[in-house]
Amino acid sequence: MRFPINVDAFRTLARRRLPRRIFDYVDGGAEDERGLRRNRAAFERLAFLPQRLVDVSRRNQSTTLLGQTIAAPLLIGPTGMNGLVWPNGDIALARAARRAGIPFVMSTASNVSLERLAGEAGGELWYQLYVLHRDLADSLVDRAASAGYRTLVATVDVTLNGKRERDLRNGFALPLRFTPQACLDALAHPRWTYALLRSGGVPTLANIESSNGAGIEARAALLSRQMDASFAWEDLSRLRDRWPHRLIVKGILRPDDALRCIELGADGVIVSNHGARQLDDAVAPLDVLPEIKAACASGGALMLDSGIRRGSDVVKAVALGADAVLLGRATLYGLAVGGEAGAFRVLEIVQDEIDRTLAMLGCAYLSDVRAHHLRPVSSGYGALFGGFTHGDQAERYEHHDRGCQEERTP
Ligand code: FNR
Repeated sequence: MRFPINVDAFRTLARRRLPRRIFDYVDGGAEDERGLRRNRAAFERLAFLPQRLVDVSRRNQSTTLLGQTIAAPLLIGPTGMNGLVWPNGDIALARAARRAGIPFVMSTASNVSLERLAGEAGGELWYQLYVLHRDLADSLVDRAASAGYRTLVATVDVTLNGKRERDLRNGFALPLRFTPQACLDALAHPRWTYALLRSGGVPTLANIESSNGAGIEARAALLSRQMDASFAWEDLSRLRDRWPHRLIVKGILRPDDALRCIELGADGVIVSNHGARQLDDAVAPLDVLPEIKAACASGGALMLDSGIRRGSDVVKAVALGADAVLLGRATLYGLAVGGEAGAFRVLEIVQDEIDRTLAMLGCAYLSDVRAHHLRPVSSGYGALFGGFTHGDQAERYEHHDRGCQEERTP
């Protein structure tokens, strides 16, 4: 099968392959979707300042994350209901990640159980936890530890579900209902419908269905995506005590919160606005990354997601201090187009773009990339978006860069 040549073209094809309400569930953001645009604008308003006459004939984008070597500064991030995009989508994504030599993060709202994924996919698997219900969360955490997961990602930006207006308009809700409109949509996408029927019909929330701690209440909560909104710092601390392995907190946007996570014993944070699916006007993660990097200078892995569509985006995030980034929609578009092979192709494309960016930037190694390789596109543009001037921003990056150089010099 011939695949598209970039993530955006995969998105275009995914829109054709999926019924509208499924595509919109994957692609959409909250409310007016300003956040989706803001996430992209944050990357677009940074340009590269390449260094010349550097020997870049041999390049290496592998890196170390939480003490482990990964082939690229990438992870496939946690996304729920992957089985609606492709039959057993969780397994397909995990296998694509394994082939690419990067970790896969399984969502609480996955459609295969965490035990089955561990048995069938292999590779470096992380488990993402939503706290819907305390007993259920405890049972999931214990199961993840027994199944061999060694990194737990606690997502803390879903105190309640974002107002995703495409879903509201399309009547997308769990359990999936087949209204006349939805049936017509399914008929117009026979390949998707056939695959869904062949794989056993509408996928279930396998982790919850099979959990001892899952009472009726917890199931209803996950179906309506109602989280336990009382989950606070003491609870995170309790989670830290219960989970004996690596703990990462996802959904952090403030330096003080990031520092508090690390002080509490977390092994790292993921700077994220949930791909603009929660609070529409939340800040773009890239815009706060330098401050968070400075706040966590003493330690902890730093990851970022939201809006990554190109290898150059990944390099910009690394230049501002990220150890690695997570892909959400990018690999889901690949999954929609070609299952495991499509998701793997998206990873290959992004890795190839990272490699090209490094070469043209004058960096043989990923660790050579620094904030001094970036400049805001123009003062006018900067002032429009963030209120900063060219001078302020450049100074901020240079200041950040000095910190990074000290840390990265062997
Ligand atoms: C998500 N995301 C998410 N995050 C999480 O912690 N648990 C989850 O179950 C989900 N589910 C989910 C479903 C879908 C369809 C999407 C698109 C996203 C958020 C995800 O992990 C990540 O933060 C964003 O997707 C990153 O933004 P981009 O890369 O999609 O722009």
